[in-house]
Amino acid sequence: MHDPDDLVSNPCIHPGFAEVLEANLQRRRLLQASLGCAAAAFLGLPTASQAGAAGRPAIGFKSVPVALDDAVHVPEGYVAQVLYAWGDPVSDGPAFQQDASNTAAEQALQAGMHHDGMHFFPLPPAAGGANRGLLVVNHEYADDGLLHPDGMKTWSADKVRKCQAAHGVSVVEIRQRADGSWELVRPSRFGRRITAYTPMRIAGPAAGHPWMRTADDPEGRRVLGTINNCSHGTTPWGTYLTCEENFYAYFVNAGSIPVEQRRYGVTDKGYRYRWEEHDPRFDAQAHPNELNRFGWIVEIDPFDPQSTPVKRTALGRFSHEGAVHTLARDRRVVIYSGDDQRNEYIYKFVSREPFDPAVPARNRNLLDEGTLYAAQFHADGTGSWVALTFGRNGLTPANGFGNQAEVLIHTRQAGDRVGATMMDRPEWIAVHPHTGEVYCSLTNNKSRGGTTHNAADGSTPAGSANPPVDAANPRADNIFGHIIRWRESGGDAAATTFEWDVFIQCGDPANPDPNKRGTIQGDIFGSPDGLWIDASGRLWIDTDISPTAMYKGDYTVMGNNAMLCADPLTGEVRRFLTGPRGCEITGAIQTPDGRTMFVNIQHPGETPGERSDPSNPKAISAWPDGPLGGRPRSATLAIRRLDGGPLGI
Ligand code: FEO
Ligand code: CA
Ligand code: CA
Repeated sequence: MHDPDDLVSNPCIHPGFAEVLEANLQRRRLLQASLGCAAAAFLGLPTASQAGAAGRPAIGFKSVPVALDDAVHVPEGYVAQVLYAWGDPVSDGPAFQQDASNTAAEQALQAGMHHDGMHFFPLPPAAGGANRGLLVVNHEYADDGLLHPDGMKTWSADKVRKCQAAHGVSVVEIRQRADGSWELVRPSRFGRRITAYTPMRIAGPAAGHPWMRTADDPEGRRVLGTINNCSHGTTPWGTYLTCEENFYAYFVNAGSIPVEQRRYGVTDKGYRYRWEEHDPRFDAQAHPNELNRFGWIVEIDPFDPQSTPVKRTALGRFSHEGAVHTLARDRRVVIYSGDDQRNEYIYKFVSREPFDPAVPARNRNLLDEGTLYAAQFHADGTGSWVALTFGRNGLTPANGFGNQAEVLIHTRQAGDRVGATMMDRPEWIAVHPHTGEVYCSLTNNKSRGGTTHNAADGSTPAGSANPPVDAANPRADNIFGHIIRWRESGGDAAATTFEWDVFIQCGDPANPDPNKRGTIQGDIFGSPDGLWIDASGRLWIDTDISPTAMYKGDYTVMGNNAMLCADPLTGEVRRFLTGPRGCEITGAIQTPDGRTMFVNIQHPGETPGERSDPSNPKAISAWPDGPLGGRPRSATLAIRRLDGGPLGI
């Protein structure tokens, strides 16, 4: 989902910017030098300086140019196939109606809207197969202007139900045909939709706390649904993690909004989904605790269609963008997650017990006990993980935290209290599979370069702070964003200290404003969002330029949203894919053999208002169905090389 506000460009360079940039570049050179050698040695690849001389670029495809047309473009020698679009049945259910006349019950058997994070699980499980598997796809939000034949001109309980059914997660079974293309398996016993009203269990320290109890759930342990499922993650034991991002946008409070609701962004209108008119759960004045039951990471077992999803509260409550895992040296599970609002924090969870592949039953609830940390990025290029543990670091009753459940339900206030570093909208995080280095996209932040901070008592609403630039967020009015990376001390993901640098400042070298030129070596891009690192160590970057900024001002030169590929060793960037008009690119995952990549095209044709005109649904895009279709549809692409070779090389 986009930031609702316009990106406002500012021609001024913050006075401290040049100094901050130079210090940052010096740190980057130092870190790059050590990383270049260490990573290259580990990978058996030439170092950054050797790569060019050896004539072996790690990225072998020819860049695609910036595009403005209503189509998907991939490099020469590649093909992109539309595999799974909004409204397609997950199994042998009802077909999509191009006039949007499918009922709510039908929508609940079809792909949801606005595909986002996703993962490919090989079938049979753990066999590493590359030709058949389960694709699990998040459906982040919905455009009611496209979802119903007359949009929101009339409003009813059925429309709310259909919108809720268009949210959540899909599980579909897919297989590769002999010609290399992919298809859904129909019928499939795995085909499943999880929606905004699917029953779920609440687990971990916050389960059962009085703040989690409602009239419908006096125990505080059962909740209906998951919403605004943006990015995702997986676990070492083969389950899927879906992340609730802008959950607050579905709630409204027409009364006096309490400080704990304002800290999470609740307003009197939300994003005008109007669910509260027919589902009172979303009236945050009448049912304030319902809000506390969203903003979590939800674990789903895609191999068991009857399984109950579980909200894992130990991982904290905020606008989770993702949940990428790695293992500490002692095999404790480490999960990184960003809070995607302006000036929010980056978090890390470390499980109390180690992952033990030999004892599957012991792993089932590993995410219920552990330590949640918030990140501090120091100006000298080091960083600290500060534990959000009740009784430590000021998280005490005197400061409003009565126990660990309250620390977790009010994770943002806990981050305020411990002095975590406010970041320029943390989006996806990716862990390098060889070096353990962690990359995080900071998509943009127009509220940077001022003087106001979030108050430690949580009285400043999310997004309203406008803090000064700092070393980790060095640009005032950061319209293009950047990618930051860190290396945990001792190479141990459970470490409580790290070193960091800025990998890329996005921008346009031709921009007249030095503050907007960035440090990209190669093809330009802005507003990085999705990140994923493949088995060979290439960093894939999805962009999400907001429709309020796209095709305008400083963003004019960047055209449609795109996917790029970066070499972490050299910093080289090449544009791999451009999407149709008005879309964002999101999601990236390959089959284990690296020969098919799945990428999501989200909200083709989106308007700056984020709701389409039902009388002219194809005003901006008709992708993917073209003249024969009634409206644009989010969809999953399957991308291959025509010669069947590995991607990217
Ligand atoms: Fe759903 Fe932060 O993108
Ligand atoms: Ca996004
Ligand atoms: Ca995103």
